Amino acid sequence: MYKINPSELPISKLQQYLQGAVAPRPIALASTINANGKRNLAPFSFYNIFSSNPPVLVFSPARSGRTAKQKHTFNNIKETSEVVINAVNYEMLHQMNLASSEFEDDIDEFEKSGFTPVKSELVKPFRVKESPVQFECEVKQIIELGTNGGAGNLIICEIKLIHISENILNENNEIDQNKVDFIARMGGNWYCRTNSNSMFEVKKPLASIGIGVDSLPDSIKFSKILTGNQLGLLASIDKLPAKEEIEDVKKLYENFSEKEKLATLLLEKGEIKNALCVLM
Ligand SMILES: Cc1cc2nc3c(=O)[nH]c(=O)nc-3n(C[C@H](O)[C@H](O)[C@H](O)COP(=O)(O)O)c2cc1C
Repeated sequence: MYKINPSELPISKLQQYLQGAVAPRPIALASTINANGKRNLAPFSFYNIFSSNPPVLVFSPARSGRTAKQKHTFNNIKETSEVVINAVNYEMLHQMNLASSEFEDDIDEFEKSGFTPVKSELVKPFRVKESPVQFECEVKQIIELGTNGGAGNLIICEIKLIHISENILNENNEIDQNKVDFIARMGGNWYCRTNSNSMFEVKKPLASIGIGVDSLPDSIKFSKILTGNQLGLLASIDKLPAKEEIEDVKKLYENFSEKEKLATLLLEKGEIKNALCVLM
């Protein structure tokens, strides 16, 4: 493995590794205002949800890598303690990118990017009309992580009101992941897009607890053919099959000689217990 000691790399190089390795990252399009009511809008991918109760989002406008100066978003939040975080979908990509330009302090990125400001209900910063999900937030805490260039600032935001476009809801008013088309930031200039081509569904492990890979028979656990994913699936069942079950299944497939190949086919069909039986 290639080893990196963060303290031995220039910030720009380290950032390439960090952003390439922690990816994809969702994008918060943060709308703020300063004490005089001047609007600001900028995207941040150091962002996620960290609590449901209370509902908390955290994002991090970092000090400039070149000048160590704080970003306008950070300064505005220091002044007013409010932010609207807008989710970003594929249709918003290039306007969002434009909003990330380093415009001067007195420039309104709503105007520059062409996004439409909509009044919020509980906070002063505006929502972005084009965004399918808009979180009106109160900033509860700011944690400054340093004074050098690249130092982040954790903006801990409590969600006070959520607006969701009907376009991404299903008939039960739940978010349909096939409709969101969110974009996310990768390393370098790469992005990814969440649509049905890139998503896949994985059922949660059984309601009961899986036996775990350590409880699989050694012949399966130490197989040179089975993959980690296959072992994970096999070990997700709640108990090893009984002797009679194993015999019945083996009888069913007695014409197959390559048991790992057969198990692979059965796993692909979701027949985990049968796969385990033929391997035992
Ligand atoms: C997709 C995307 C994600 C970004 N994520 C961050 C981030 O997490 N933290 C950060 O400090 N800057 C990030 N930036 C850069 C800021 O958007 C940029 O510095 C912007 O000018 C800050 O605006 P402000 O000074 O008006 O707050 C990102 C840019 C893009 C395009």
